[in-house]
Amino acid sequence: MSLKEKIDATKLPKHIAIIMDGNGRWAKGKGKLRIFGHHNGVGTVKTITESCAKLGIKHLTLYAFSTENWSRPAIEVRALMELLVDTMRKELPTLMKNDIRLSFIGNHADLPVKCQKQLHATMEATAANNRMDLVLALSYSAKWDLVQAVKNIAGKVKEGLLEPSEITDKIIDKELSTHQWPHPELLIRTSGEKRISNFLLWEIAYSELYFCDKLWPDFTEEDLFQAILDYQQRERRFGKTSEQISSTA
Ligand code: IPE
Ligand code: IPE
Ligand code: MG
Repeated sequence: MSLKEKIDATKLPKHIAIIMDGNGRWAKGKGKLRIFGHHNGVGTVKTITESCAKLGIKHLTLYAFSTENWSRPAIEVRALMELLVDTMRKELPTLMKNDIRLSFIGNHADLPVKCQKQLHATMEATAANNRMDLVLALSYSAKWDLVQAVKNIAGKVKEGLLEPSEITDKIIDKELSTHQWPHPELLIRTSGEKRISNFLLWEIAYSELYFCDKLWPDFTEEDLFQAILDYQQRERRFGKTSEQISSTA
């Protein structure tokens, strides 16, 4: 039985989030420049996106560039932005063929104009697709998102539209840039690092975390299946006892 056949199609996560990490180390291991790793990472993005869509995953969020990544050497940042524009342009037919809608979370204004334009063009072209949402986190950090949410809520309170006592976790959910998607049930990070690096802090409150030692350009469809199988073997208790969970199963 293949790994794919072992997956229970009735228990798929609706939303998978991935911290795609390890491109630089992958390139270094081959005696190449970091950007060579980013170029090869695009191949993995393509494989994993198509694979998730075919499996029936409804939402896939990929951490492509963090707020903190702006502090990298300018030459790497520039190359990454160019790679993004190029990839979005070249991969439009793949998105259309697989009925995938592209969305974006992050600080739009930080991105180079060319990147903003390409992002909008791709989002517009794919807006009517509905097999899967591919959400790119670009110039994104969870703290940035929480700060803008708090500012919006404070503005509503100031205008008298909301009482402080009415603020609930649902209200906070609605102000986050991820509000239109369910919270991810599964978060995967490649490269062996076991940290969150300012990704979806609020939304992963109860996500299952899966860390894989492989560097992102080496991450395969089989590795994705393995992560999903691992997820399916976990008992998600949400604070309850194991007995309570099995009696409602
Ligand atoms: C992930 O790979 C891609 C981005 C953060 C843009 P890295 O570039 O972080 O690669 P490592 O972690 O240095 O190997
Ligand atoms: C996290 O990776 C950000 C992305 C994958 C886009 P980093 O490589 O930037 O994270 P740290 O600095 O090792 O925590
Ligand atoms: Mg890294």
